[in-house]
Amino acid sequence: MVAENEGKEGVWRSIWADGQLVGSISVERKDEGGQAIGEIGYMILTPWWSQGIGTEAVRQICEIAFQEMALEQIIGQVFPENVASARVLEKNGFRLEETKTGAVVKGGKALDVRLYRLDF
Ligand SMILES: CC(C)(COP(=O)(O)OP(=O)(O)OC[C@H]1O[C@@H](n2cnc3c(N)ncnc32)[C@H](O)[C@@H]1OP(=O)(O)O)[C@@H](O)C(=O)NCCC(=O)NCCS
Repeated sequence: MVAENEGKEGVWRSIWADGQLVGSISVERKDEGGQAIGEIGYMILTPWWSQGIGTEAVRQICEIAFQEMALEQIIGQVFPENVASARVLEKNGFRLEETKTGAVVKGGKALDVRLYRLDF
């Protein structure tokens, strides 16, 4: 997945710890009204949670994406119950912009999504 997407519409990276593949992370291009915007996405395998890996991976990919894609902002969208994901963004300077009510339909249910934003 990382190899297929690299350079297409964003930056895609695998995440490694102690020589093992533990997750993946990306910033995809998603321009808004003439502004250069990227959207971040990430996952860490469960046994590796709560060791600071997500926070460090977000720090590194934002630095790479701002440099390589000349972005003005990076956004992150998080379900309200995903406290760990929100913390990872907050610890990297993302600010909560709004909670979008019923923005995503999943399993027939309309769910709220929190929109976070980081300026260059
Ligand atoms: C979100 C995710 C990437 C976090 O990765 P991580 O490596 O565990 O994150 P870190 O260890 O860097 O930091 C996690 C922060 O959240 C907190 N946290 C971790 N699990 C938590 C939980 N279940 N409830 C509340 N807080 C939690 C940690 O305490 C830490 O905050 P702190 O430094 O203030 O104490 C990981 O949980 C994951 O892959 N989840 C599934 C996929 C996903 O949700 N992706 C994001 C979609 S928006």
